Amino acid sequence: MKTSVCIIGGGPSGLMLSQLLHLKGIANIVLERQSREYVLSRIRAGVLEHGFAELMREAQCGERMDREGEIHDGFFIAHEGQLDRVDLHKHSGGNSVVVYGQTELTRDLYEGRDRMKGQVIHNAEDVQPHDLTSDKPYVTYRDGDEIIRIDCDFVIGADGFHGVSRKSIPKDKITEYEKVYPFGWLGVLSRTPPVSPELVYAKHERGFALCSLRSQVLSRYYIQVPLTDNVEDWSDDAFWAELKRRLPAELAAKLVTGPSIEKSIAPLRSFVAEPMRYGRLFLAGDAAHIVPPTGARGLNSAASDIYYLYHAMLQHYQQGDSTGLDGYSAKALARVWKAQRFSWWMTTMLHTFPEAISYDQKLQQTDLAYLLSSEKALGSLAENYVGLPF
Ligand code: FAD
Ligand code: DHB
Repeated sequence: MKTSVCIIGGGPSGLMLSQLLHLKGIANIVLERQSREYVLSRIRAGVLEHGFAELMREAQCGERMDREGEIHDGFFIAHEGQLDRVDLHKHSGGNSVVVYGQTELTRDLYEGRDRMKGQVIHNAEDVQPHDLTSDKPYVTYRDGDEIIRIDCDFVIGADGFHGVSRKSIPKDKITEYEKVYPFGWLGVLSRTPPVSPELVYAKHERGFALCSLRSQVLSRYYIQVPLTDNVEDWSDDAFWAELKRRLPAELAAKLVTGPSIEKSIAPLRSFVAEPMRYGRLFLAGDAAHIVPPTGARGLNSAASDIYYLYHAMLQHYQQGDSTGLDGYSAKALARVWKAQRFSWWMTTMLHTFPEAISYDQKLQQTDLAYLLSSEKALGSLAENYVGLPF
């Protein structure tokens, strides 16, 4: 087989790029290791920044998001038994975020690909990129007993943190920066009305908690747990009881509980691989960088990579100018590191660190007190949360 761009990974990054390139007549094939059902069963991000929503519209996949997604102008921070509202709209100069689940937007992107008869190959096994430093790279994968080869101009590694793309780069050509946090998030999805119409980020000595939502009938809650905990350790009842303990009494009293539809633990990690290019391989999204979920930057950082890559590809194919591709890694990383800084800061301010000494705890309390008392600090939080410009 032959195509212009071979995209490894059919998550939001790969599908979005595939859709955008196809709309501009640039041939591409997506190779996804899992089935579509499996990809759509993963419950992940829920908050989209303005730039991401714009990209969904440009990909002609934004209709349902615009209809069903909720615009949120603010969120709450709970601490010491009280609730403080962060007015995103006011402090960001009129911006907001869209609450719309990653599962739903991935479904919309798949439907977009189907509508345009895009090529998305599922259950592609043993995907492997080859000859990345030549001008004739190719990718192979296995379908049953058959090895299939795709010749292309460029390979996009959009295959997430555990994918094959980043691992195909020789160790001496890439630098990895990593920070692992000593806790994870236990997440529960339940068909219950959300406890608050806007998100609540709760700082509590027993550990962080987050009240989020997918709609007014579907709630998503998280609590900080030790890395040693397993999902099986947490019955629904135990989860709800612990969540209630970490919320201000007035809010806890309003919490409607119900059976969990999904329950999983995600470890928290910060990670960046530099550069995001090796020869004709370009990394995008979680394949190149991971943030702890506090601050909802993961999916949004993936979107900015796709924005830069898409425009660089257009410049290459439409004008024969490769300066955009040459500058991709540096441009993407400049924004990626700002998302890293913000996610690390939100995580550090709101979580309970097992090794923290009393001095650290005092600084953490002061960080939050300063934030809530300073218009300028709130402005900085808001501009990062709604998304820095691409
Ligand atoms: P992915 O979504 O990981 O997609 C990569 C795709 O590549 C997958 O479909 C995978 O099956 C496929 N693949 C992997 N290896 C191969 C291979 N060898 N060959 C072919 N295909 C392959 N972000 C937030 O903003 N808020 C959150 O609440 C949040 N929660 C998260 C919870 C979890 C458990 C995880 C893992 C991430 C979470 N994130 C969250 C981050 C966010 O979901 C990611 O940033 C986002 O999914 C990145 O999209 P992506 O397309 O780059 O990677
Ligand atoms: C969600 C996850 C986050 O990490 C976050 O900061 C906000 C919302 C969510 O899954 O809904």
